[in-house]
Amino acid sequence: MASDIKNPSVTLNNGVTIPQLGLGVFQTKSGKETSDAVREALLAGYRHIDTARIYNNEESVGEGLRESGLKRRDVFITTKLWNDDVRSGIAKDACYASLDRLGTDYIDLYLIHWPADGWEKAWEAMAELYAEGRVRAIGVSNFQPHHLDTLLTISDTKPAVDQIESSPQFANAQVVDYAKSKGIDVEAYSPLGGTGGSLLRNPVLAAIAERYGKSPAQVVIRWHLQRGLIVIPKSTHAERIRQNFDVFDFQLSDNDIQAINALDTGQRTGADPDNFDF
Ligand SMILES: NC(=O)c1ccc[n+]([C@@H]2O[C@H](COP(=O)([O-])OP(=O)(O)OC[C@H]3O[C@@H](n4cnc5c(N)ncnc54)[C@H](OP(=O)(O)O)[C@@H]3O)[C@@H](O)[C@H]2O)c1
Repeated sequence: MASDIKNPSVTLNNGVTIPQLGLGVFQTKSGKETSDAVREALLAGYRHIDTARIYNNEESVGEGLRESGLKRRDVFITTKLWNDDVRSGIAKDACYASLDRLGTDYIDLYLIHWPADGWEKAWEAMAELYAEGRVRAIGVSNFQPHHLDTLLTISDTKPAVDQIESSPQFANAQVVDYAKSKGIDVEAYSPLGGTGGSLLRNPVLAAIAERYGKSPAQVVIRWHLQRGLIVIPKSTHAERIRQNFDVFDFQLSDNDIQAINALDTGQRTGADPDNFDF
């Protein structure tokens, strides 16, 4: 998987490369909705899909990949270990079950979805899965700096990524900067402000978008890319899936980046990693 100007990659701290822009499939229904979205994305040029056990659509991700006609090795697949499986200490079995559902014999990136009780033990199991070659990279999601500190103290295996909420309305800069200072790449989830959000109707984004002849979503994706984050916007609409990938032919100016940075409200749209009840 080579990096190119139309589909740049990031090299993770274990040397594995990940396409910087991927398709997220949270709340994409299992069956045709997911397989169509995945196939459309891959035909549009995406080479990175972000799913999770709890999204209940891993089989359909595998189906979309097969429908695309691409080879398994040409597509980067992330899935995640769900909280119940962290708490009950069955990380390895959960990973094997995800492999079965995806219909593949390895996962490119396997993440602890949330810092649920027992995540320290789960991390040991993740390291074993990595050593076994069942996963090419391991990482975490929704880890705050204090979780990262604990992890780096108890384990010699550094997470390749921390996948966290980040968008212009909640940049989450402190966690981004902390993870990066530790050599951990950051993946931005809910990068467009999440399903049901109002970010894409923001007039500042609309004005910037108009000047570049792009949509607000394209401007926001470009903002993430220019911050050096990995970004995984979700859509179930083929036209938007294509639009969200058509972001490699323009560059936001520093002034526009600053104007987008100023939209940060400090209010997250998703759950708080220090206080979640699922
Ligand atoms: N690790 C975690 O805990 C976690 C949590 C949340 C999300 N994630 C990951 O991050 C991915 C993205 O986050 P997200 O799904 O929460 O939200 P998102 O990507 O920020 O936003 C998705 C919403 O934006 C709409 N949209 C997409 N492209 C658009 C466009 N070009 N113009 C207008 N609207 C557009 C989508 O509508 P349509 O689908 O109707 O087009 C959907 O309503 C998820 O799919 C998942 O893979 C991870």
